[in-house]
Amino acid sequence: MNQFLSVDDVKDPMALVNDAISLKKDPFAFQSLGKNKTMGMLFFNSSLRTRMSTQKAARNLGMDVLVMNVTQDSWQIETQEGAIMNSDKAEHIMEAAAVMGQYCDILGVRSFPGLKDREMDYSEHLIKSFVKYAGVPVVSLESATLHPLQSLADLITISEHWPKRKPKVVLTWAPHIKALPQAVSNSFSEWIQKMDVDFTITHPQGLELADKFTKNATLEYDQLKAFEGADFIYVKNWSSYQDYGKVIDQPEWIVDSAKMALTNDAKVMHCLPVRRNVVIADEVMDSENALMIEQANNRTYSAQVVLKELLQRL
Ligand code: CP
Repeated sequence: MNQFLSVDDVKDPMALVNDAISLKKDPFAFQSLGKNKTMGMLFFNSSLRTRMSTQKAARNLGMDVLVMNVTQDSWQIETQEGAIMNSDKAEHIMEAAAVMGQYCDILGVRSFPGLKDREMDYSEHLIKSFVKYAGVPVVSLESATLHPLQSLADLITISEHWPKRKPKVVLTWAPHIKALPQAVSNSFSEWIQKMDVDFTITHPQGLELADKFTKNATLEYDQLKAFEGADFIYVKNWSSYQDYGKVIDQPEWIVDSAKMALTNDAKVMHCLPVRRNVVIADEVMDSENALMIEQANNRTYSAQVVLKELLQRL
């Protein structure tokens, strides 16, 4: 692994999941590996879990950590090559990334999509520019279209709750008041298809995700039918990919206990943060089948196993 931007950077995703589960049992086993190495973390957008879990992971490996909130603490960064920089952006990514690469051995970048220009967002221009100019391995802390550290944590969590039979996993769209990225859903869809599961995606018509991520998933527009016999319900809102960035108002798609009663006593998952009683009802969030806190805990081990792999190749 030379970088971690998507599942395509991982030779054997299930081996990585198993390695993360081993690390979880002995988190300080590699605490000398990152000695005298620095992890840089750049945030163009807000974060709680990614920020704290990745710092913890780096420190478990003995790394020093530098964190920068780019939009608040740094110069505003121009990303277009050839730009005439006569507006508010004082520094070009060509210099900014190269300079950060002098201070850091691994660079993590979080940057959400603008949700206005689909081609631009799906080109992943920003994170690819960091790869091009930083000169050190880049880790996605959630990019415009993907959130691989979250998905790896989700697979760890599903592995830990693996039922006796091949599980049915359902990714369900749920309502939200704001336009959210497709990144978590895109990423979950491509990672879960590396596991031996039956995978169904359910959402209202018009919310189809990009084919390149859904691949062989079963699409079911009837949410109730999709929930039947499910072992895992993964809940996530996303804005429209077709009518790019549009918010669809379908409050009846909330995940509540009546819908969960249709499942095979399914575990319920969400990457967090979640808006209670808009996306998921309190009774489901507070049920013993809710895995969200375990997912958040596993973010440490997903980051740690990725940083370990990268450090071993430096
Ligand atoms: N799930 C997740 O990435 O959380 P944060 O946005 O808080 O980092």
